[in-house]
Amino acid sequence: MNTQQSDKLIDGKAAAAQVIEEVAAEVATLKAEGLEPALAVVLIGDDPASHVYVRNKVLRAEQAGIRSLEFRMQADSSAEAVLEMIAGLNADPRVHGILVQLPLPAHIDERLVLQAIDPAKDVDGFHSDNVGGLSQGRPVLTPCTPAGCMRLLRDRLGDLAGKHAVVVGRSNIVGKPMAALLLAADCSVTVLHSRSREPQALSRQADILIAAVGRPRMIDAAWIKPGAVVIDVGINRIEEDGRTRLVGDVDFDSVLPLVSAITPVPGGVGPMTIALLMQNTVTAARQQRKQAAARSAEESTCLSTC
Ligand code: GUN
Repeated sequence: MNTQQSDKLIDGKAAAAQVIEEVAAEVATLKAEGLEPALAVVLIGDDPASHVYVRNKVLRAEQAGIRSLEFRMQADSSAEAVLEMIAGLNADPRVHGILVQLPLPAHIDERLVLQAIDPAKDVDGFHSDNVGGLSQGRPVLTPCTPAGCMRLLRDRLGDLAGKHAVVVGRSNIVGKPMAALLLAADCSVTVLHSRSREPQALSRQADILIAAVGRPRMIDAAWIKPGAVVIDVGINRIEEDGRTRLVGDVDFDSVLPLVSAITPVPGGVGPMTIALLMQNTVTAARQQRKQAAARSAEESTCLSTC
C-alpha cells in the first residue's frame, strides 16, 4: 500500500483508544464524586467466539476503570434461571450496565431475555424502549457497533447533514439502528437488503456506504461511487491459502482505488464496538444517578407536603 492509499485508512484502533481515554477521564471524575460505574456481562453456554468477546470486554472495562462483573451460566440453563439472574442485576444499584452476550443457546428466547433488562441498564440498546426512543430521536442508550461507526464517520467527515448514506443489511443489531442514527444526523438514508432490486446501482449513489451483511467480500468496486467513504462492519472468518483469515463484507483491494476513506478489517469497526460499550456504561451510570436524585427529591417533597 502506498502513502496515498494508507491515508485513506480509517484507524479504528486509534479511534477506540481515544474513546477509552475519554471514558477513563469521565470514570475518574465519577469515582471522585463517589460513583463507580459497573458493567455486568452475562455469558450463557460455551460458544468460543463469545468467550473471546467477553474477555475483551472485561479487559477493556478494566482499562477504562469500570468495574466489571462476569456471570457465566451453563449452556443448558433454563430461561427462568437467566431471567432470575437479570432481575437480580436490575435490582442491584451498584450495577449500571447489563450485557447478555449473544447468540444465546437455541432453547432460550432472545427477545424475552433482552426485554427483561431494565432499559436504563441496557448498554446494548436492544430493549424495545431504547429501539423506539432511537427511532423517535430521543437520547437513549444506542447499539454500540452503529454508534462506533457514527463516531468514525464524524471524526473523518465532520457534519454529515445532506449526505446520501446507503446501509447494506437490515439486522436489528447493526443495519436498522445504523439507518436511524444516520437519519438523526440528517443524512438521506437508503437501506439495501437481499430483496433489493439493482442494489449496485443504488449503492453507487452513496456518499457513505455501510456494509453490514455478514458475507465475505460481497461489496466490490461495482458498488462504489468514486470518493465514497466506506465503513465495513463485517467480520468474516475464511480459509484462504491454507490459513484462517478475517475479512470484511467489502472486497478491500477492489474498492481501495475508488474510495476516499475506508475501515480495514481487522482494526476498523471492531475495536470501536467495545469502546462505545464502555461509553454507554458511563452514560447509564450518570443517568441512573440523576434518576435516583430526582426520586429522592420527590420523596422528600412528598414527606413534607403529602
Ligand atoms: N454478539 C455479537 N455482537 C453482539 C453485541 O453487540 N451485543 C451482544 N450482547 N452480543 C453480541
